[in-house]
Formats: sequence, structure tokens, C-alpha cells
Amino acid sequence: MRILVTGGLGYIGSHVAMALIESGYDVILLDNLINTQENVLEVLKRLVKQKGIPLERLTFFPADIRDREALRNVFLAAKPEAVVHLAGLKAVGESVARPLDYYENNVTGSIILLQTMREHEVFTIVFSSSATVYGEASEPPFSETAPTAPTNPYGRTKLMIEEILSDLANSDERFRIVSLRYFNPVGAHESGWIGEMPQGVPNNLMPYVMQVAAGLRETLYVFGNDYPTPDGTGVRDYIHVLDLARGHVLALDYALRHGGYEVFNLGRGKGASVLEVIRTFEEVNGISVPYTIAARRPGDVAVSFAATDKAERLLGFQAAYDLKDMCRHAWQFQKRLLSAQSKI
Ligand code: NAD
Ligand code: WQD
Repeated sequence: MRILVTGGLGYIGSHVAMALIESGYDVILLDNLINTQENVLEVLKRLVKQKGIPLERLTFFPADIRDREALRNVFLAAKPEAVVHLAGLKAVGESVARPLDYYENNVTGSIILLQTMREHEVFTIVFSSSATVYGEASEPPFSETAPTAPTNPYGRTKLMIEEILSDLANSDERFRIVSLRYFNPVGAHESGWIGEMPQGVPNNLMPYVMQVAAGLRETLYVFGNDYPTPDGTGVRDYIHVLDLARGHVLALDYALRHGGYEVFNLGRGKGASVLEVIRTFEEVNGISVPYTIAARRPGDVAVSFAATDKAERLLGFQAAYDLKDMCRHAWQFQKRLLSAQSKI
């Protein structure tokens, strides 16, 4: 079966592509390269080849989901039978500064994708939503039925798309739609060849930790140590990107078997504090991560972690990797990246 993966050259998309291919699906990648590099495609091809999988099972189309004509051509040429939709802009701060770009890219882009799908009679889609939709409206563990109240334009694009998907499934029973609310994806592929490559100053904890560990930045600023948590620092539900990728395969299998609309959290159901992440990273990689306590970051919640029972019950999803694996694999990828850069 042929699956179109939008945003397929991004951090999560590249891992999802590998998981789908390894599960027997043919993968059609689509990306406008705004937050990735074309060499990710070469790396994916190398991994596919190493696994003895025929290369024709992976194709790539450089295209923007907002470009209706380009999208139509991809559907005509590649004939996808289902879609995993990860294309989107994802930086919270940037979304506050450039809301229209975020609404246009994420919301308008998704609408054009859905219209194109319907035109070509493709009705199955798995969508990348985010735990950010919960905002501060409820207490963790966040269950899928908890109230939503995103606190920034990025989060609101995710909630709007979820609502569009739910309305669409209600209006047309041919649609089979799953939204996945990811908690905090970190880590990298076991091969060390694919991982997260943030451009500029990283917004997220793990990429920042790695850049400090690599000596690219002097210190990690820990945003607040006066939260009501055991050590005062923020607690998050970190999930290995390989677990997340496997979650997409299970979600796609579920969507193919069930009509209508369903939302699932993808998390481990356990929180780790910022200091715990630092300590674990130092311990498993034998490298120190100097840090400085700084002010709280505006908009941060104290604690976030998932209720995992729905994904476990209906998808059979349970995270397999722990925080140590996440730290080990992330660092393995960062080291390979540094050695590749030093050869340029
Ligand atoms: P990423 O930026 O690495 O990947 C997104 C990919 O989409 C990039 O390769 C980018 O070039 C592409 N893209 C963006 N706009 C596009 C467009 N209009 N047309 C075609 N391609 C486009 O981000 P990621 O971390 O892999 O995230 C993937 C998805 O998961 C995003 O939708 C993001 O909002 C969502 N998500 C991410 C996280 C996280 O912490 N990484 C958490 C929750 C949800
Ligand atoms: C984790 C913890 C910080 C950086 C974000 C988005 C969310 C989702 C996932 C897409 C917090 C602390 C961080 C640093 C720090 N993305 N921290 N120093 O904020 O939970 O979620 O990514 O959907 O929408 O908001 O993740 O990695 O930024 O922060 O102390 O330099 O690390 O305060 O407690 P967050 P994060």
C-alpha cells in the first residue's frame, strides 16, 4: 500500500518513513525543504538499501502542501492510498511573531491537502497534532477528553486542524482520520544517521543539551527551578522518536480499519524534570552539561504528561525506549553530525 508522508524529510517524518517502509508500506515523501535538507533523502535511501529493501519503495516529491497544482500532480503520479500528514511549521515563539504564516502554512495547507485527497478519493489520514493543545486548561495526566486551550498560535493551528478533521469525518463517512497528540519527541535513529537538526538557536531542551555537550554553546539555561515539582524544574513526558514512529504505523493500521475520527496521545505517561534529563544525559554519555538556573520561560507549564491508556487499549501502543535510550541515541546522532561537519 502506498502512503504519502507530508513533511517526510523532517525530524519525525524521516523516522516515520523508515518505520512505514519496514512495516511493508511503500512511502511517497513530500517536503518543501523549508526546515530540512535534501541530503536526508540520501540518508534514508542508504538505510533502506542497507535493510535490503528495494529502493523503488521510497520516492520523493519536492512540493508545498499549499500548492494545489503541485499536490494534484503528486497524487496523479504517485497514487497514494493513505496520508500521514506531518508537514507544518512548529516553532512556538515564531508563531507568536508570525501568526499569519503559521495559520496559512498549517491550516490552509491542511485544507488544500484534504481537498486534494477527496478529489483523488483518498480518505485515510493520520495527522501530527501536539500535546500543546491541552495548554493550561487541565491537570496532568492529560487524557484525550481533557479540555483544550492552547496558549499560542502554533498550538491553535493544531487544534483548528483537529476540529476541521473531526468536522470532515462527521460530514463524509468515507473518511478515516486519526490525530496523534505527541508529547515531547526526542532521540534519534539507532543508526545515528537521522535525527533532529534545528536551525539556529534550539528552542527545545534536548537539542540545546546536545549543543552544550558538544561545546557549541557554553551553558544550558534551565528555565526556572521554583516550579511545584520535586526538584523545582519543569517536568515533561519525553518519548523516543522511534516509539513515536511506531505509533504512526499502529495509528495508520487503526485508521485503515475504522471509519470516523479518533484522537490519541502518544507519550510514555511519565514525566522527567529538566535536571533529570541533564543528569541522565551526563551519565549515559559520560559527558558534562554545564547549566545555569535562569528565569521561567513565559508560557511554560510546570508539569505535562500523557494519559496513555487509550493508545494502549485501541492501538496496542506502549513506549519501549526509556530516557537513557533517548539520551544515548540523540548524542550518537549529534556526534556523527559533528564529525561530518568537521570533514566539510
Ligand atoms: P520538522 O520541521 O523537522 O518537520 C516538518 C517538515 O515539514 C519539514 O521537513 C519541513 O520542511 C516540512 N514542511 C513545512 N511546511 C511545509 C509545507 N507547507 N509543505 C511541505 N512541507 C512542509 O518538524 P518535526 O519535529 O518533524 O514535526 C513534524 C510534525 O509534528 C509537525 O507538524 C509538528 O508540528 C508536529 N509536532 C512536533 C513536535 C516536536 O516536538 N518535534 C511535537 C508535537 C507535534
Ligand atoms: C522542555 C522543558 C522547559 C529549553 C515544546 C512545544 C510543544 C511541542 C514540544 C510541538 C521545559 C525546559 C527548555 C531550554 C529549559 N512541540 N527548557 N531550557 O516546551 O514542553 O514543548 O516542544 O508541538 O508545542 O512547546 O518542550 O523542549 O522546549 O522544554 O530549561 O533551553 O525544558 O522550560 O520545562 P516544551 P521544550
